[in-house]
Amino acid sequence: MISVETKANSPVDLKTVPENEEVVLVFDFGSQTAQLIARRVREQNVFCQVVRHNLSAERVREINPKGIIFSGGPSSVYDKNSPQPDPAIFDLEIPMLGICYGMQILCKYLGSDVKPSDSREFGRTSCRVHEASGFFDGVPNELTVWMSHGDQVNDLDVQFLSLAATSTCPYAAVKHQHLPIYGLQFHPEVTHTELGGQLLANFVKNICGCKGTWQISSLIDREIKSIRERVGDAQVICGLSGGVDSSVVAALLYRALGSQLSCIFVDNGLLRKGEAESVRNQFQEHFKTDLHVVDASELFLSELAGVSDPQKKRKIIGKLFIDVFKKEAESIDNAHFLAQGTLYPDVIESGANADGPAATIKSHHNVGGLPKELGFELIEPLRDLFKDEVRKMGLELGLPEQLIWRHPFPGPGLAVRCLGEIGPERLRVLREADAIMLDELAKAGWYRKVQQAFVVSLPVQSVGVMGDGRTYEHVLAVRAVNTDDFMTADWSRLPFDLLQDISTRITNTVAGVNRVVYDISSKPPSTIEWE
Ligand code: XMP
Repeated sequence: MISVETKANSPVDLKTVPENEEVVLVFDFGSQTAQLIARRVREQNVFCQVVRHNLSAERVREINPKGIIFSGGPSSVYDKNSPQPDPAIFDLEIPMLGICYGMQILCKYLGSDVKPSDSREFGRTSCRVHEASGFFDGVPNELTVWMSHGDQVNDLDVQFLSLAATSTCPYAAVKHQHLPIYGLQFHPEVTHTELGGQLLANFVKNICGCKGTWQISSLIDREIKSIRERVGDAQVICGLSGGVDSSVVAALLYRALGSQLSCIFVDNGLLRKGEAESVRNQFQEHFKTDLHVVDASELFLSELAGVSDPQKKRKIIGKLFIDVFKKEAESIDNAHFLAQGTLYPDVIESGANADGPAATIKSHHNVGGLPKELGFELIEPLRDLFKDEVRKMGLELGLPEQLIWRHPFPGPGLAVRCLGEIGPERLRVLREADAIMLDELAKAGWYRKVQQAFVVSLPVQSVGVMGDGRTYEHVLAVRAVNTDDFMTADWSRLPFDLLQDISTRITNTVAGVNRVVYDISSKPPSTIEWE
């Protein structure tokens, strides 16, 4: 194993590259999408990691990557302090691809001219391909690409050939005449670029000559090795939420550390039906981890009694969770590390939220939301990964499909689905109805067709009729959404027959409910949860 310096260049971020494995490095010039490029390469079964933009040529030679990709970035190559690579890197004769700013850097170093273009170009545009082989293999002559740039390569040295152009950008794609060096002014990594994944695959396979033999299991081996080196003989605590991310972290750490892992699961009395048991089954019976299930339901429910304001409820739950977790963690000897299931999208989102309006809409809380003051060093083995990669890792680690495909469940749990004041009776009704809805969804083959589905208890009662009598009982709402990223969402077009089955079974079997409604609002203007 050889270590690679990542962008942050701190020991925590020292990663190891598997030997005898094809490697592609993404040099990060400050791009929002560097990790996305890496993920697209990993989709080709080639190990790929994001590294600092100025990783030394010497280190690169040591790692011996099959290819290098220069990411985009916000700078202009002519800015005084614009990020520059180690120039010796161009002598290594490694295939290279520059994207946007990365292309401008490549072309400038190899003698071409980069100028501010007449107009900034941002968004979708049509691109005409001149040369369909090699880099553009399997791609039509005309395709839609995503541009986002100010400068552009203008007056190419005779060393470069134009492979594709748009109406305003004659050098939308270029190839060096003699070296395996390519440049794209547009962004192949984003989904707005048609067949962008194919272009990256062509670079990796056709230009770099990668065979694509890497598997997620070698990432597991790599993480296990680096966790063991870092932890030594200390104890690691992992907070379990019952969700995919924290479960994958726990399974990975268990494989790396065995009895040096202690998991804490806080039962806050706001969980869904059977949730605590399933965590216990998985981590105590199956994995045999040192699992601490803290039943704090009475504490949570008593503190929440009489509180109906959503933000107050969230605050109370967040604070109690930290208190309970901290107390339990103190009972664990020799614990120096806290493992969290932070994923790459969480890193971007929390960064964006800090300055954006999103943070003020709801104060989200989850297991990842523990404060720094707990005094542990953090272990975040999923920090570079996207959700689908985490799922693959989980399956490889032996977690059941059902857990891997579980819909997200918010940290404050049923509290934000029981609108207004929470009480044991309303929670009972909600739990039963939610379990029925999920069961019907699964039976009808719809569970995996929606990204999140749940039942909400409304703080109203409605009049109904049962037998010959009048009833005055709970109203429940069913919510199901389709979404790519949970930032926006559309209500799911569930079949009427399925809605009928859900409604009938709930009203027939859950005492105290006489009406079920279906939520047909999208986000925005609604949010996914009701509180
Ligand atoms: P909203 O309701 O903001 O939800 O559209 C977007 C996604 O976030 C989940 N969510 C939370 N997750 N702690 C969490 O861990 C929270 O406090 C929280 N609030 C909402 C929600 O379930 C959806 O998946």
